[in-house]
Amino acid sequence: MVIPALIEHKRDGRPLAAEQWASLVRAYTAGQVPDYQMSALLMAVFFRGLDPAELAALTDAMIDSGDRLRFDGHPRPVADKHSTGGVGDKVSLLLAPMVASCGVSVPMMSGRGLGHTGGTLDKLESIPGFRTGLTLAEARAQVDRLGCAMLGQTPEIAPADKRLYALRDVTATVESIPLIAASIMSKKLAEGLNGLVLDVKTGSGAFLTDLDRSIELARTMIGLGEARGCPTVALLTAMDRPLGRACGNVLEVEEAIEGLRGSGPSDVMEVTYALGAEMLVLVGAARDLAEARKRLEHSVTSGRALETFGRVIEAQGGNPAVIEDPGVLPQAQAVEVFRADRAGVVAAVEPRRLGRAIVALGGGRNAVEDAVDPSVGFVITVKPGDPVRAGEPIASVFARDAAGIALGMAALAEAVVIGEEGRRTPLVSHRITAKGVERLAEGD
Ligand code: URA
Repeated sequence: MVIPALIEHKRDGRPLAAEQWASLVRAYTAGQVPDYQMSALLMAVFFRGLDPAELAALTDAMIDSGDRLRFDGHPRPVADKHSTGGVGDKVSLLLAPMVASCGVSVPMMSGRGLGHTGGTLDKLESIPGFRTGLTLAEARAQVDRLGCAMLGQTPEIAPADKRLYALRDVTATVESIPLIAASIMSKKLAEGLNGLVLDVKTGSGAFLTDLDRSIELARTMIGLGEARGCPTVALLTAMDRPLGRACGNVLEVEEAIEGLRGSGPSDVMEVTYALGAEMLVLVGAARDLAEARKRLEHSVTSGRALETFGRVIEAQGGNPAVIEDPGVLPQAQAVEVFRADRAGVVAAVEPRRLGRAIVALGGGRNAVEDAVDPSVGFVITVKPGDPVRAGEPIASVFARDAAGIALGMAALAEAVVIGEEGRRTPLVSHRITAKGVERLAEGD
């Protein structure tokens, strides 16, 4: 296999054959293709796209690069959800224990921060001792015992995606429908699921900002899932503002625990219930979405979901005291309040600007090997459409030092736009299945 010839072929807009994708992914996973060549190929895919046969071949090659989770003999249905990535999106932390408490097993396999978006693994690892690197055997045993495991991609699951994901993060090749679809679905289809729910983010803070492209991404992933025997549903959710108030690893874990205690921000809870209800219905654990939602709400009010989260934390080596006392999480050295500089209405809270600022504060990565400072980030208490008074506290910056505070304050000054009017787009706008696209009535 002559790699420059493959790159040239793709660069010039010609499709690669299924066997070429298979050999390329095998060779890359074995360390026989250098990152600079793979980066060039990814950039060619970014500009040229993949036709359906290439997408199927790349996804299968990525699945086949590793092993699969197997749930033969497991007594409960198995489901998972995956988000295409956003800012302030801590839904997985709430959803996995909630759904597990309703009798559906969740082998939640997540990723790290990518570009300006946060990652569930980085959030979980901000809990002292929490180990996301479970082997497949450990994950299976934990799902058998607790109904839930929260893990990263072990070297056994889609190792090709693990390397490609990290490479895309630092080579500006994230925002590509086929690359996102193959990445997400290769991991999810290796999980042995009975059903998969996708949270496809749309708006300025999503990888795909445009509604039509978000719908195309959802349909692409549903096509890959259904063709491989995994019933798949997608909800399109708003990412033109951060989800919830907290953005940053520790801050989001704290907010997720508030949510599991029943006092989470309404938008976080709404998205979590909507996705969770789809999961329960998809695997036949509830008759309809209304019944599913009631059961999920009960998992919170009864305390069972929080208890399950505590058990998962303990089982994975984390300090379960975090459930009672989030103060055990690493805390930022410097905190400063940000105030509205004028009276008016919030016109925008720009998630991409905030996500980039979190990376600059040390809460995300500029390079694959960068360590993450879990304590930094923002808490923003206003949403588009909210009226504000001049001088009103509307956000806080959490940073390592004075320089971080200055950086964070400057980011907030750009990200939070106060004008004469503001509009909040629907939180959950579309439901997409193999049958088609359904526009949902109202969001918030
Ligand atoms: N999440 C993934 O797992 N992969 C992507 O490419 C984007 C979001």
